[in-house]
Amino acid sequence: MGNLAIFFGPEGGAVNRVANLLASKLEPGSFDLISINNASASDIGRYETIIFGLSTIGRDTWDQKFGNIDWSKFMPVVSQVDFTGKKVAIFGLGDHITYAFHFVNSMGILARIVQNNGGTLFGKVSAAEYEFSDSEAVEEGMFLGLPLDEDFQPELTEGRLNAWVTQIKAEF
Ligand SMILES: Cc1cc2nc3c(=O)[nH]c(=O)nc-3n(C[C@H](O)[C@H](O)[C@H](O)COP(=O)(O)O)c2cc1C
Repeated sequence: MGNLAIFFGPEGGAVNRVANLLASKLEPGSFDLISINNASASDIGRYETIIFGLSTIGRDTWDQKFGNIDWSKFMPVVSQVDFTGKKVAIFGLGDHITYAFHFVNSMGILARIVQNNGGTLFGKVSAAEYEFSDSEAVEEGMFLGLPLDEDFQPELTEGRLNAWVTQIKAEF
């Protein structure tokens, strides 16, 4: 799968937990696990295969006054990266009950930046497997990455992640 990094943020919450869980399912030494707080555009540029982990806080902008401070800084960095030739997969934390109409929107925003900058997305998941009302992260019936809901469906996270790891290993 080429050299691989998981870039995740923010630290200390659900995304961080899932990033660690994902790391525990990959071959030790075959990847780098990097907090976006410690990452630059050139760090992203060093990897052929990238997994991004993020959450959705707020609706559809990165200028919220609360939360996601890490990604509000990192999204402009990602926007400058040329993803040509890179394979990218995304997992996105959200809440399908409270935010049913904006479920994992941020995953869609990030996915489109990657695609617009020449990257190829892997690890899309059928939206039919999820209950929600609307999401910017869906295209043609597929989520543009793996949605996870640690708020209302924590018991599903590990099974979803296991299936996804099998999927991305085959796709990468
Ligand atoms: C203020 C706030 C706004 C949120 N907005 C959304 C949203 O629009 N869509 C969604 O799917 N989840 C939303 N969530 C749920 C979070 O994405 C979810 O709790 C996630 O697990 C947080 O992960 P983190 O602690 O690693 O950032 C929101 C949570 C908070 C606290």
